[in-house]
Amino acid sequence: MAAAGRERPPIDWDSLTFSFTETDRMFVANGSWEDGWSEGRMVDFQPLNLSPAACVLNYGQGLFEGMKARRTPDGKITLFRPEMNARRAAEGARRLVMPEVSESMFIKAVKKVAEENKRWVPPHGKGELYLRPILFGSSARLGVSPAEEYMFVVFAVPVGPYFKGGMTPISLRVSQNHHRAAPGGSGGVKAIGNYAPGMMPSKRAKSEGYSEIIYLDAVEHNYVEEVGAANFFCVKDGIVYTPELTGTILPGITRLSIIELARSMGLTVVEEKVSIDFALSCDEAFCAGTAAVISPIGSIQHGEIEEDFGGVGDTTLALYERLTGIMGGALEDSFNWTVEV
Ligand code: PLP
Ligand code: COI
Repeated sequence: MAAAGRERPPIDWDSLTFSFTETDRMFVANGSWEDGWSEGRMVDFQPLNLSPAACVLNYGQGLFEGMKARRTPDGKITLFRPEMNARRAAEGARRLVMPEVSESMFIKAVKKVAEENKRWVPPHGKGELYLRPILFGSSARLGVSPAEEYMFVVFAVPVGPYFKGGMTPISLRVSQNHHRAAPGGSGGVKAIGNYAPGMMPSKRAKSEGYSEIIYLDAVEHNYVEEVGAANFFCVKDGIVYTPELTGTILPGITRLSIIELARSMGLTVVEEKVSIDFALSCDEAFCAGTAAVISPIGSIQHGEIEEDFGGVGDTTLALYERLTGIMGGALEDSFNWTVEV
């Protein structure tokens, strides 16, 4: 079991990847329908003690969030729009019939985890401390119905780029046989059950040299939904397009921030259904998410078609520089998006 301050091999900040590393401390709170949430406590990073009949293990009653703590050039540690993650988690809790964690409890917990793991926050520009809040039904359940008891846990991992090479354009393949979410399902929240079914198509695409897959809508198999675990954007004649939120697409916080940022830069942003044919006809494409940040798309393979977008487009690069500048504290945050820990 890990203990705070335990000797660990020093991290090479220059070769961080998006992979798991145990850190020092984590937050744990227990809740139930009857008693609500305990205040929660910070403990050393450690395994959880769960019944094999825990509702989350058997029926997937759980959700997660993803957010990053960053070191600014003047050494402060900041979070990016943490209240948005808190609100999305509350939305997910309602969908999965779990007791909501209040915004103030959520933000206090993630701040505390960032603070007590601050030695794991990479130097400015070298990566981030990824914070992973999880909320799940922890008590035993045999029938398919909500658990009585719940846990809210937050742990932290220092990370580098989600896709190898950071701003190196990635090659994607459109999934022809699999869909991520159907209308009326849980695609619009960060339910843990949304992710395992994507592993097989994603793994196959990766074994064939692609970085990730693009999902089309489950009804017509015609409209772009998401790129693995990130939102999709494309640019044509200077106009930025992104699929509208229809309930099957996760409302990404990066997605929302890019829309607001692009508009503030005088760009037109259109949120509508984006057909795969239209996407393939665009000048630039990129995907966006907390882990992915803004990752330029170099090519998309769709059936017999292989569309090459070339290098990193001007609009993609301008949005990347402004967004990461604000996130990392190198540019002024006129939106008040960043919050100091
Ligand atoms: N889409 C899916 C399915 C995701 O898991 C994520 C990651 O959180 C995103 C999009 C991007 O959302 P955000 O920008 O809030 O990280
Ligand atoms: C994120 O971007 O935070 C995600 O949740 C994506 C992925 C690592 C599951």
